[in-house]
Amino acid sequence: MKIYRIQNNKLELTEENIPNIKNNEVLVKIKALSLNYRDLLVTEGIAHWKPKENRVPFSDAAGEIVEIGESTSRFKVGDRVTSLILPNWEQGKLSPEKINVAIGGASSDGVLAEYVAFPENYFCKIPDYLSYEEAATLPVAALTAWNAVIEQSNLKLGNTILIIGTGGVSLFALQFAKLAGYNIIITSSSDDKLKKARALGAHHTINYKTHKDWIQEVLDLTAGQGVDQVVDVVGGSHISESLKCIKSEGIISMVGVIDGTTVGSINTGTIMYKSAKIQGIETGSTEMYQRMLIAMDLHKVNPVIEKIFAFDKVDEALNYLKKGSHFGKICIELPE
Ligand SMILES: NC(=O)c1ccc[n+]([C@@H]2O[C@H](COP(=O)([O-])OP(=O)(O)OC[C@H]3O[C@@H](n4cnc5c(N)ncnc54)[C@H](OP(=O)(O)O)[C@@H]3O)[C@@H](O)[C@H]2O)c1
Repeated sequence: MKIYRIQNNKLELTEENIPNIKNNEVLVKIKALSLNYRDLLVTEGIAHWKPKENRVPFSDAAGEIVEIGESTSRFKVGDRVTSLILPNWEQGKLSPEKINVAIGGASSDGVLAEYVAFPENYFCKIPDYLSYEEAATLPVAALTAWNAVIEQSNLKLGNTILIIGTGGVSLFALQFAKLAGYNIIITSSSDDKLKKARALGAHHTINYKTHKDWIQEVLDLTAGQGVDQVVDVVGGSHISESLKCIKSEGIISMVGVIDGTTVGSINTGTIMYKSAKIQGIETGSTEMYQRMLIAMDLHKVNPVIEKIFAFDKVDEALNYLKKGSHFGKICIELPE
């Protein structure tokens, strides 16, 4: 089978035997994968995302169970599943031991291969209405957005949410905010993307590149009060911008690290006088993922896919992601 490993800070496509499963494992034939911003951090060896030599990258895949270990009970051969990035966070609140395995990163191998063998808790069954490509977009971007917009949010119907950008996480945040009945403001560097975001259900759109006073526009849209919640995928010093956009006691869901993986200049005084809540978002648990899949199935939410690359074009797909011109998710398909 074909498999990618990171060797000398580069992705190498190699040929290996299909793995033999252990008693507690299942073998999955991968049908599709999706890319996340994190895959750039891992493959480029940035900060604590730098993996050890020979790491198999990527966390997000969808495929079919083709073999099950003797002591497994969750799946049968033929089941359609996706991977889970944090398989040990099955339920309950976050704790360090629940995130000791994060597949396709510094700690553990991932799914960028034609077949993968993992313990059964590394996978979750998916609804029938989703294609493999659509399902492959869910493990990280959708679950993170679901956690921020639904699980950790205290917003009520009609409250206002500000979503920054139109990448993978942001568009799922838009789709889930729509399900929840929030008033949605979304920003982008592109008018064309904002038009598409309106078609997906955004109520208000602002181009943060051409409208230098975009924060004032957010305040104008909320009668000067500010929004109830911001989904901030940029992080770093951008948190100070989000602080200006929220109302008193508003929430900033701190999701991303685009503007800095560790530090940022933040107006701490504003955190205090606005009684702001800055909520860090770590992807989410299996239990949250299952709740998300039920909601998606009920409302037939289709993930937004920008482009699908062939399995031998993963480098091109990563470069495309880096360019930042995408709207939604970038996927990889595997031949039958
Ligand atoms: N906490 C978690 O568990 C978790 C999970 C998933 C992702 N993340 C993080 O969340 C971030 C986004 O991930 P993603 O996969 O959605 O990335 P993505 O698909 O590359 O999307 C990022 C989007 O952010 C917008 N953006 C970039 N720079 C900006 C700026 N300076 N100001 C405003 N908007 C800006 C752009 O939107 P426009 O093109 O519309 O301008 C861009 O498309 C990354 O840092 C990623 O590591 C965290």
